[in-house]
Amino acid sequence: MSDKKTIIRSVGAYLPARILGNEELARTVDTSDEWIVQRTGIRQRHIAAEGENTSDLAAAAGRKAMENAGLEIGDVDLIIVATTTPDMTFPATAAVVQQKLGMHHGAAFDIQAVCSGFVYAVATADSYLKNGLGKRALVIGAETASRILDWDDRTTCVLFGDGAGAAVMELGKPGEDRGVLATALRSDGHFWNKLYTDGGPSSTRSMGHIRMEGKEVFKHAVGMITDVVYKVLEDTGHTIDDLDWFVPHQANKRIIDGAGVKLGLPPEKVVVTVDRHANTSAASVPLALNTAVADGRIKRGDLVMIEAMGGGFTWGASLIRW
Ligand code: ACO
Repeated sequence: MSDKKTIIRSVGAYLPARILGNEELARTVDTSDEWIVQRTGIRQRHIAAEGENTSDLAAAAGRKAMENAGLEIGDVDLIIVATTTPDMTFPATAAVVQQKLGMHHGAAFDIQAVCSGFVYAVATADSYLKNGLGKRALVIGAETASRILDWDDRTTCVLFGDGAGAAVMELGKPGEDRGVLATALRSDGHFWNKLYTDGGPSSTRSMGHIRMEGKEVFKHAVGMITDVVYKVLEDTGHTIDDLDWFVPHQANKRIIDGAGVKLGLPPEKVVVTVDRHANTSAASVPLALNTAVADGRIKRGDLVMIEAMGGGFTWGASLIRW
């Protein structure tokens, strides 16, 4: 096991061109811009084009992250795709991404932890690289949630969007004081039926649509998020005041605000993209990271907390010295 830390060298993102605003959505389903904004903070979402698959979004975000690091696919030997909306039941979407990026070497696999997928993937890449199984990882969160929505169900279809975000991870130099400092991952499968798809290959031989007990999710979200945030702070001897940026899963502005208030975080330290992207599940955290890096907020040396919570339930947080 290496004593070096795993750093995030670069990030990248891709959003489909089509933007679906609340007003337009309200023309096809019984809802309103006012209701959606008030209950969720969402104003618009991106929707993948016909024929544009999760692997296309993932590959585009991955290319961007490599470009931002000045790297080529030959420099990467692991691809992890966190997704709930794979192109196919199998192979892993990561394998399709591997093909689209022209990579014949290394390894590629998917992680399924729903909205927590990117945090799980960061933790997996961190362990993988520290244990010497590879040199550099492309860690991607990518979703076409629009494909598993029931567009007649106003309680869920207004909440989600499509997109992808990616990070290049590699071992830092010896003694380098940045990288992933600590991660906490949790799940409790007793909650699986609070947020799920009503179908799957083994149970119904179909894909299913998202079903959710919104109030139940809401009730547990803030407590679960703050639990893992406190755990990684404690494990690293940091306090909430040490954080430069809090980059939460972008499910709902009310959940983000609730967690921020409970943690005592000033709103200006919280990165929010849910208004523009809606809930992109495993893509939401890397999309938010990419936004805050691109606009200059997150800089080298900053202390960044990422966290997520979602179906399973799964939840997790990771503290990263950028
Ligand atoms: N437009 C208009 N009215 C709606 C809509 C809609 N899109 N959806 C529901 N309503 C109605 C309901 O039918 C209900 O009407 P009624 O009072 O006549 O029965 C009324 O609005 C209130 O519904 P509630 O479900 O009580 O609304 P609530 O305030 O709980 O908000 C919401 C619903 C936004 C889903 C909320 O429960 C929530 O934020 N839950 C968290 C779940 C979440 O964010 N999930 C994302 C995935 S999980 C994750 O990523 C962590």
